[in-house]
Amino acid sequence: MHPFMDTDRFLSQRLICVAVIDRADDAVPLAEALLAGGLNAIEVTFRTAGAADAIARIRRALPDAVVGAGTLLTADQVKQAVAAGAQFGVSPGLSEAVSRAAHDHRLPLFPGVVTPTEVMRALDLGWKHLKFFPAETFGGVNALKALAGPFGHTGVKFIPTGGISAANLPAYLALPQVAAVGGSWMAERKLVAEKSWGKITALTAEAMKVISLAKV
Ligand code: 3PG
Repeated sequence: MHPFMDTDRFLSQRLICVAVIDRADDAVPLAEALLAGGLNAIEVTFRTAGAADAIARIRRALPDAVVGAGTLLTADQVKQAVAAGAQFGVSPGLSEAVSRAAHDHRLPLFPGVVTPTEVMRALDLGWKHLKFFPAETFGGVNALKALAGPFGHTGVKFIPTGGISAANLPAYLALPQVAAVGGSWMAERKLVAEKSWGKITALTAEAMKVISLAKV
């Protein structure tokens, strides 16, 4: 495990909000809405031009937030994310270039995997916290149970993301190999664009309640 992989800090709440922010002005109010609902971890996806600016703004304004950069597809995006102050990175897949850049910049990375071969590649590249994406499409809870067989003893942990909501969250959190769950349901792009901060806080609080009741 890398000394810079302070996963307890990033994943202790067992939930990461995956956000698509179209206007950087919405970044701080969104992170405030999540914090008001009890969640500190937000992944700002590099799918919009203002992603790096959004990360920088949240970092400056809200020291209690833990801010990651998501949808990292290139080494250059890793560099931009680190420059903006991202505390962790997430990628939908397993790219050697992204992995190398993350190591070079000491950015904790959660690369995306689905198959046993990809899990082995990720372990070879030095990563143990892996995004399982798209979780529901690729077998969900049953697939994660099967992967625990050959990989349980390696210490690998998964962050299933894709198709998760408050309804199926408990089934994922019940698995010991699941470190945390990622999802956009509490802050969908439309809710952010509409500045529905109260609704986002309510959905976040509901998710946090589900997590507090989940048996681990
Ligand atoms: C992601 O961007 O990581 C996933 O698309 C989030 O999946 P969800 O929107 O189904 O939560």
